[in-house]
Amino acid sequence: MPVRPPFFWLPGYGLPFGPGCERRPGHTKEQCRTVTNTVLKMAEKSGDPLIYLNNAATSWPKPPAVLAEVARCLESPVFEAGRSTAGGAMDYPAAAREALAGFFRAEEPDHFIFTRSATDSLNQLLHGFAHRQAGPFHAITTDLEHNSVLRPLHHLEGEGRLSLTTVSSDGGYITLPAIKSALLPDTRLIVMTHGSNVLGTLQNIRPIAEYCASHEIFLIVDGAQTAGGVPINLSAMPVGAFLFTGHKALFGIAGIGGFYLNDPELVDPVQQGGTGSDSRSLAHPSEMPQKFEAGTPNYPGIASLLGGLRYLEGEGLGKVFRKGHDLSTLFLSGISSGDLGIDLYTPAPDLPVVSFNLRNLDNDEAGYILAKAYNIIARTGLHCAPLIHDRIDGGKGCIRVSFSYLNTPDECRLAAKAVREVANGADR
Ligand SMILES: Cc1ncc(COP(=O)(O)O)c(C=O)c1O
Repeated sequence: MPVRPPFFWLPGYGLPFGPGCERRPGHTKEQCRTVTNTVLKMAEKSGDPLIYLNNAATSWPKPPAVLAEVARCLESPVFEAGRSTAGGAMDYPAAAREALAGFFRAEEPDHFIFTRSATDSLNQLLHGFAHRQAGPFHAITTDLEHNSVLRPLHHLEGEGRLSLTTVSSDGGYITLPAIKSALLPDTRLIVMTHGSNVLGTLQNIRPIAEYCASHEIFLIVDGAQTAGGVPINLSAMPVGAFLFTGHKALFGIAGIGGFYLNDPELVDPVQQGGTGSDSRSLAHPSEMPQKFEAGTPNYPGIASLLGGLRYLEGEGLGKVFRKGHDLSTLFLSGISSGDLGIDLYTPAPDLPVVSFNLRNLDNDEAGYILAKAYNIIARTGLHCAPLIHDRIDGGKGCIRVSFSYLNTPDECRLAAKAVREVANGADR
């Protein structure tokens, strides 16, 4: 990542100074310096409180209950059946598996596997499924996917293990007819997101899951953007596997994720090692959950996940979902008034994710101004989902603001006002 020279921006002065200055014909270096200094002083004086709107990447802050659970875990010796005779009061992996089963309404707590992240979950599932197949097969994915889906699939395709069809979304949605039109006689795998991290659209998985279940197609659903923000009932949605990450809406810390695997026979483990069980055998155990968990787990990460699950259960997922919707609606209404030169990619997103571009300002620069002049953290660029950017913004990327349950309506209003000011400045 190149280091960007610092610049500061004052609403109403047009394009930012520093890199932007080069683009303003007739603007001397001296003029730049004068205005830069003025803005610098203003930005220093403003002392705006930090507004964090990058929750679709990693949520912040975490609820105090999550921090307390991590502290509790670290303050006492770890305990896990098979790995310690005794220790802290809590077997965190066992407790978190039970909590996950309750949270996602799943039948089998032991079919929840802890991983490092959604990316780790996808790699284990995709490589493990491909390994299980006798020969090459056909797989389907969509243009909404994150690179954590696209890259392992691309890698497996490069190795000749599978052939891949990418289905195009329509208005941000993937339908069963679109999936059906891509089917081939040897289609054995479909991988798709539950919620787009760019467009904020929520996919109707159930009909696709039911179709896959009745046609022996393994359906992997990427719940990185929905787990913790949307009520999910795995008993009513017969997916092959559902994966999540801990550090987004589930309010856990970075470094913990997982997946639920309906039928463990369909996937081979891609790693072997110590499990604290059946230690005489040199063959890795085939029972769940040990089949997919080798090595000492991330206890503090699991504790944070447990803390997040309990917090969200206490608040109620319906309330959490509604608040996300209300926050993004409030922000959208704040940036939709008048012609501000804003290209909005989903006028009414299902998830608390709003992506847009300012017509006269590069999205990286706009993000930099929001951070430096307003203390607002968003995310800019490609959001690790290159295919959908090709369709919506010609591959240049966009600004994304994403809300968590802990954001406030006031933060949304202030952020919308800031975007309006930046847009007005850029339009001059
Ligand atoms: C839709 C989607 N899938 C997968 C991931 C990868 O998550 P992680 O970084 O936790 O592996 C992300 C992260 O942004 C995402 O938005």
